[in-house]
Amino acid sequence: MERILITGGAGFIGSHLAERLVAAGYAVRVVDAFVPQVHGEGGCSVREPRGAWLERAGAEVMVGDVRSPEVLRRALRDVQGVVHLAAAVGVGQSMYRIADYAAVNMQGTAALLQALLPAQRVAGKGGRRGREPGVRVRRLVVASSMSVYGEGAGHCPACGPVTVAARKREQLEHGDWEPKCPHCGVATEPAPTREDKAADPRSIYAISKLAQEQMVRCFGQAYGVPAVALRFFNVYGPGQALGNPYTGVAALFSARLRAGEPVPIFEDGRQQRDFINVRDAARACHLALQSGISGTFNIASGEPVTIAALAEELAATVGRPLRKDRGGAFRIGDVRHCLADTAAAAGQLGFRAEVPRRQGLGELAEWLERQPEVRPVQTAREELRAFGLGG
Ligand SMILES: NC(=O)c1ccc[n+]([C@@H]2O[C@H](COP(=O)([O-])OP(=O)(O)OC[C@H]3O[C@@H](n4cnc5c(N)ncnc54)[C@H](O)[C@@H]3O)[C@@H](O)[C@H]2O)c1
Ligand SMILES: [Zn+2]
Repeated sequence: MERILITGGAGFIGSHLAERLVAAGYAVRVVDAFVPQVHGEGGCSVREPRGAWLERAGAEVMVGDVRSPEVLRRALRDVQGVVHLAAAVGVGQSMYRIADYAAVNMQGTAALLQALLPAQRVAGKGGRRGREPGVRVRRLVVASSMSVYGEGAGHCPACGPVTVAARKREQLEHGDWEPKCPHCGVATEPAPTREDKAADPRSIYAISKLAQEQMVRCFGQAYGVPAVALRFFNVYGPGQALGNPYTGVAALFSARLRAGEPVPIFEDGRQQRDFINVRDAARACHLALQSGISGTFNIASGEPVTIAALAEELAATVGRPLRKDRGGAFRIGDVRHCLADTAAAAGQLGFRAEVPRRQGLGELAEWLERQPEVRPVQTAREELRAFGLGG
């Protein structure tokens, strides 16, 4: 039986993936540090402590930090494939916890790749000179993010396809939200973003995700291991940490709606995103493991939605009235639009999103009903303001 290691496997995407891979007949090992921001102090605010649900599902759970060579040595025993999901996840927070984000995401990936190599052999000893060093695994998959693009592909009504630059603070302070054409200055429209668009990471988080995917791809090429980087768009669904103020917008909005609190919508709410259900995200990881190819792929639904429309859809699904926060607030570094071109994932991985958003949001609402009330916190926004990063 093939054994797969999922780093960060007790997290949102990792839990779904672990359950999926066990069901598909893999032996699954999870290594996770159970960081309190995701799992709650001393356990887990949303699910049971210490990955009990994963053990029940048939996965092996190891508590440990991916930066530790000793933890990795044990975690990698008899493993044929690795899905590397462990990361500090939060765009805004990464801008003032720079060292933590770089350490967990970049050093974590470096330590993992190092641990995949056998201990240094002295050339000539045992007649091994000139032989392949024998990397421990046959498959590598790493979670990357749409954030590596910065602003998604743009289209100018006059000039056609254009690359749009980051919006300046002054523009945002004037409530002028749309990115402008670099040639004629006219407001641009979003277009589907292909994987070959030049990366333009705008946060320490995004830089660390780009570094992670490049390190894994580079390692894969050098040692002949098929390596896939999956650029997830906004993943949503049951199991998303509700008490984590840095978490995805769907979980945050849902928690607010449930608590009868206003939903914080930045800018004018017309920014477009692509929401991909967590079951689809897990299936994409599974396909990447099976594929035996190397590449970088957008993992998205291909059906963009504005943030304001998403808030309406969530309110309707949760069955609570939508109260919007004062509009016009913004965050430095936020992307206006990012839509995915999903053709490469479809053509090369055979991945197409299957869960319609309506159904996915219904499942999220159903799951929410069964969760203990979690008080959403203001922390994230206050911290951004304290560092002069919010408006
Ligand atoms: N959720 C999204 O919308 C989204 C979008 C793009 C990319 N991603 C990426 O997908 C991956 C999984 O994200 P998620 O949404 O499941 O996040 P998550 O926070 O739910 O899961 C991450 C897991 O990693 C663990 N972890 C953190 N630091 C660790 C360390 N040093 N050692 C071991 N474990 C550690 C955490 O305890 C957590 O269980 C991440 O790499 C993230 O960057 C997620
Ligand atoms: Zn133009």
